[in-house]
Amino acid sequence: MTTAPLSHTSLPQSLHPTLPGHYYTDPEIFRREQEHVFETHWICAVRSADLAKPGAFRTAQVGRESVLVVRGRDGALRAFLNICRHRGARLCMEPRGEVRRALQCPYHAWTYGLDGRLSAAPGLTGMPDVDRSGYGLIPVALREWLGYAWVCTADEPPSFEETVVGAAVERLGDAASIERYRTEDLALGERVTYDVRANWKLIVENFMECYHCATIHPELTDVLPEFTDGFAAQYYVGHGARFAEEAEGFTVDGSAGFGTLPGVGPEQDRRYYAITVRPTVFVNLVPDHVILHRMYPMAEDRTVVECDWLYAPEVLESGADVSKSVELFHRVNSQDFEACERTQPAMSSRAYRAGGVLVPTEHHIGAFHTWLTERLGD
Ligand code: FES
Ligand code: FE
Repeated sequence: MTTAPLSHTSLPQSLHPTLPGHYYTDPEIFRREQEHVFETHWICAVRSADLAKPGAFRTAQVGRESVLVVRGRDGALRAFLNICRHRGARLCMEPRGEVRRALQCPYHAWTYGLDGRLSAAPGLTGMPDVDRSGYGLIPVALREWLGYAWVCTADEPPSFEETVVGAAVERLGDAASIERYRTEDLALGERVTYDVRANWKLIVENFMECYHCATIHPELTDVLPEFTDGFAAQYYVGHGARFAEEAEGFTVDGSAGFGTLPGVGPEQDRRYYAITVRPTVFVNLVPDHVILHRMYPMAEDRTVVECDWLYAPEVLESGADVSKSVELFHRVNSQDFEACERTQPAMSSRAYRAGGVLVPTEHHIGAFHTWLTERLGD
């Protein structure tokens, strides 16, 4: 028996094509994404409460830049490029830490205040004419929302309201629906960091569709039975997936969770919402907790995902066991990332040279591809 050679033109016309395989493997495309996507959009860098005290700092990879976020003595968070203005040494090498009152470069000891101003430089004291104000750290735009510091390295950041808050509006119908969970007042119950051997877009695409839910998420579909039909919770505006009758809570075995968060209304109770904030954040809302994923694309075939499970502070203070609650989405994450890692090597196969296809329940992924290719100018 002879088989016809694979050809893109032989695909049925009614199925939308995906991006071609090289979009997931080509280092040059990844470099262009760093430049035109991650370095020009608002990126969720750190959880504000992780930097509680003045002098606490964290660094985050944003495109090709290392960004330093630090809590000032005035209590405000500020972001800077993590680069010394003298001869360019990386200022903070550690991903997190705490300084007392200043940031000192380990190379020649130029010293910066927590507000980024150059406060001391050995040998410059004898040069009173040098205007130190011109040698402060390079500031990066920062906004706080949902209890996280979002940064943008662009010279002219896009509207935060349109590009970040707008994702919640697009998905839920209004921004108030997400703000009712008061994520900024919640406490961190668990954080898991996943080092995923897959291109960041495979992770976004996976998160956007639920066509895979029936095959790889048995625990999730037990709690959210409507997911077995493949229509993602993101498929139409304002829709939250209803919990199964027998599920008491959003937990790995359907056992009871915790009390409904104070701002959550009856129409949001016993429902699950998922929001993608392009390019790198996913938020899941359930009545008693919020799950927030931040992606850090490190290379064309590697993405670090940091996932936070956030609960009412009283729940954690009471010593409640959140493990069954955490375990549900930890399993979902592991199942999803395994699927992405299984897909990544195939992206360089001849079979995927022209890409794959999207079934109708995945058509909204096509909008993500359009969004991306417009930014890349392709
Ligand atoms: Fe930082 Fe010289 S490079 S002090
Ligand atoms: Fe999934």
